[in-house]
Amino acid sequence: MPNKGTIIKSGISGMVLVVLLFFVMSPKVSTSYAPVPKLKTQCPPGFKKNKNNECMAINLYQQYDSPHDNGVGGLQTGLPEIRDGFSPQEIDLGRYLFFDPVLSGNQTISCATCHDPGKGFSDGMATSTGMNGEKGTRSAPTLWNVGYLKKLFWDGRSKSLEDQMQEPLFAHNEMDNTPENLLQSLNAIENYRSLFAEAYPERPKAQAIALDEIYTALAGFQASLVSLNSRYDQYAHGYHDALTLNEIEGLNVFRSFVARCAECHTPPLFTNQQFAVIGTPEPNGLPLDPGAQVPFQDSTLRGAFKVPSLRNIAKTAPYMHSGRFETLREAVEFYTKGRGHAVPEGEDLIIHWHIWEPDLSDTELDRLVDFLKTLTDESFTPQIPEQLPSGLEPAL
Ligand code: HEC
Ligand code: HEC
Repeated sequence: MPNKGTIIKSGISGMVLVVLLFFVMSPKVSTSYAPVPKLKTQCPPGFKKNKNNECMAINLYQQYDSPHDNGVGGLQTGLPEIRDGFSPQEIDLGRYLFFDPVLSGNQTISCATCHDPGKGFSDGMATSTGMNGEKGTRSAPTLWNVGYLKKLFWDGRSKSLEDQMQEPLFAHNEMDNTPENLLQSLNAIENYRSLFAEAYPERPKAQAIALDEIYTALAGFQASLVSLNSRYDQYAHGYHDALTLNEIEGLNVFRSFVARCAECHTPPLFTNQQFAVIGTPEPNGLPLDPGAQVPFQDSTLRGAFKVPSLRNIAKTAPYMHSGRFETLREAVEFYTKGRGHAVPEGEDLIIHWHIWEPDLSDTELDRLVDFLKTLTDESFTPQIPEQLPSGLEPAL
């Protein structure tokens, strides 16, 4: 006969077993294998599907034949070419991948951690923090309209979305993954295997997920982030009442030969996609960021950065490559404080000739800020997936 002690003991171990079973069968685990909806067969808004199942961009700027790099400040100027032609399925698969922390080494951060749709696809921080809590040295740019950009990163060191993403994916201070580990973790998830087979129907269904497929899907999703329906755009297409008088005044300062903003931040993309040395200050105590000098090995590009688009700029504070300016007013005021005023002593930067002493009044600066706020349009913000194919929570 077992004594009381053993009865109690086996009772406890029975309980432990029940508790263990509960955890094993708990919803958290079973959701990993819950079915994920099929990939979308329709293109995102702003794209129209052609007969080859490719999503092609459609917008009102296509009516204007004045080429983008010719018009300085013209309202009805065309846009540069966008990366389009991805299938709806590729774009939708990219959406899942973008939010999924399974892409990072320890499965805690996703692209959306630093490019959060709720923060204009940026992260609200001066410089980003990656895995291992490591701080980067530059601010996370918005991804709105990134499909139009010919050079990526602040220093333009990358030429394509597919090439660009390999840095954050595999950098120790960002997502800290390896190509082998990334493939292994995705291929171990049945949901992803079937979604990739759906997105890439030409290859054998049982074929393992490949890196190129991951890159293409993420590129397709990013290139679908189009923002061209701001109040400014309505004004540009002829609806005069879309802007207030103050905002129109701001637009006129922006386009003026005194302020010269539009020479670099050229509408309708609000960037001419060139490099410019404008001499913004680094955060206190940090040395000058040499910018494009490094990848291009060209000393005339010391301190040069890619002219950023100003679309959705009101959503992506703090500003500049270093996130040095907290507000739009501070960022705009920089331009009127004197050519080269923030260049560290001993540095001899070749400041761009459009940066000079426009001597803007406080009211003009206020009007510029009023105008910049009209460039907000988040109407095509994609849906954050409620459930990810990996069973993990979307990491924002
Ligand atoms: C730890 C934060 C972090 C994560 C995670 C991250 N990024 Fe970034 N991203 C940045 C920063 C910071 C930059 C700018 C770096 C530079 O210019 O040197 C950047 C730049 C970019 C750019 C260039 C944009 C432009 O205008 O030039 C793209 C595109 C981009 N990231 C996409 C992605 C994708 C896709 C992922 C996921 C695979 C990702 N990022 C993950 C912080 C992050
Ligand atoms: C010579 C080209 C040039 C001119 C002219 C110019 N900018 Fe810029 N602008 C840049 C560059 C380059 C940067 C990025 C600099 C950096 O990060 O250090 C920038 C950054 C900005 C930013 C911050 C963007 C962000 O994403 O953080 C704002 C806002 C801005 N400019 C507004 C203006 C306004 C307003 C004017 C006119 C008063 C103007 N710019 C004139 C080249 C120019």
